[in-house]
Amino acid sequence: MLKDKKILLGITGGIAAYKAVDLASKLTKMGAEVKTIMTAHACEFVSPITFKSITHQSVLTKMFDVNADIEHISLADWADLIIIAPATANIIGKTASGIADNLFSTTIMATTAPVLFVPTMNIHMYENPIVQENIVKLSNLGYFFMEPEYGILACGYKGIGRYPENEEIVFHIVTYLKYKKDLLGKNILITAGASREKIDPMRFITNYSTGRMGLALARAAYIRGAKIKFIHSSLGVKAPEYLNSIKAISAKEIYNSVLKDFPESDITFMTAAVADYTPIKSSKQKIKKSDNLNLVLKRTKDVLKELGEKKTSKQILVGFAAESENIKENALQKIEKKNLNFICANNLNVSGKDDTEILVLGEGKEIKLIGNKFSVAHQIIDIVLKSSIKLNI
Ligand SMILES: Cc1cc2nc3c(=O)[nH]c(=O)nc-3n(C[C@H](O)[C@H](O)[C@H](O)COP(=O)(O)O)c2cc1C
Repeated sequence: MLKDKKILLGITGGIAAYKAVDLASKLTKMGAEVKTIMTAHACEFVSPITFKSITHQSVLTKMFDVNADIEHISLADWADLIIIAPATANIIGKTASGIADNLFSTTIMATTAPVLFVPTMNIHMYENPIVQENIVKLSNLGYFFMEPEYGILACGYKGIGRYPENEEIVFHIVTYLKYKKDLLGKNILITAGASREKIDPMRFITNYSTGRMGLALARAAYIRGAKIKFIHSSLGVKAPEYLNSIKAISAKEIYNSVLKDFPESDITFMTAAVADYTPIKSSKQKIKKSDNLNLVLKRTKDVLKELGEKKTSKQILVGFAAESENIKENALQKIEKKNLNFICANNLNVSGKDDTEILVLGEGKEIKLIGNKFSVAHQIIDIVLKSSIKLNI
């Protein structure tokens, strides 16, 4: 996803500087050309030689070097994106105040490329109104920020301020290179995962869905600025903190949760694999083993069909269908029967853990998307945004 992209990685003097080594490695492995600038204080934490060895590209630390070009301009022009990870309270404050007193702060000032800050610091520093005001000011000016994570901090405090997972940082970089914040003001409801229908306190009926496609959509839409309601049942992966997920495990819980939030939603992606049948009655006690067990199942409520009946002319409803045969025919029937705007038909025979093949149908379009789920998620959002429906915002 990052082939031939030019990324300038700025390291400032935070305790998490060592984590940026892994970020440099990930970006390089994904095909990006990564050049590094380190502040003098960053060099107190990690040696520039580490980044040089990993990226095989230049690592700069000084503003005034008689043998160098005018680096703050050439690097500012060269970069497709500048990422500051970790970003100290100091670099945020300097940028917000227009200070350009070393190679890195001057390069930030000189660039027209997108700039992504990854603030990482002690909770009291992060919550300091000065830092918060600087973040708001820079965000309003178009700089991108990631929220730090909650947890145990290096200083011993517990709270917000931790360096996020590098994998999450990569998702943000991939998005900002292409999309910016084009979903600001949109409410998006996404369901994901496999429902669980209880048989007894120990057993349940479920399916193979991992929820990864729904999670990819939620992540992509969130980073592009949408307000997300992410309702998930059992997930094969951990949802990031910033999604503030709502858990709904059974078909009934998913139904209740989705119907409550649907009226506020501009775009709804129903990727959850919701059981069509549930036991008529679940046993309070664990059912004892016998030669045969007869389970009587009843139909669950068809949440997608009900949303199709309830949707207004200013809402977009996207269904997902996992199919193993007659993919297009079955999907087209579902669009009609459930009054959907789009359907994403997933070919079960070829989809894997991280990659997928999806046929998007709706509004006379038929588009096949193949590839990594995160990049397919962005493309699905693009197709939906080109819908003829005028959203209620
Ligand atoms: C051990 C240690 C850890 C630090 N960790 C952080 C940190 O995580 N975040 C931060 O904003 N500042 C941190 N600081 C303070 C910065 O290093 C200091 O504000 C410095 O001036 C930042 O300079 P720079 O932004 O030019 O790299 C730390 C300082 C020390 C001594």
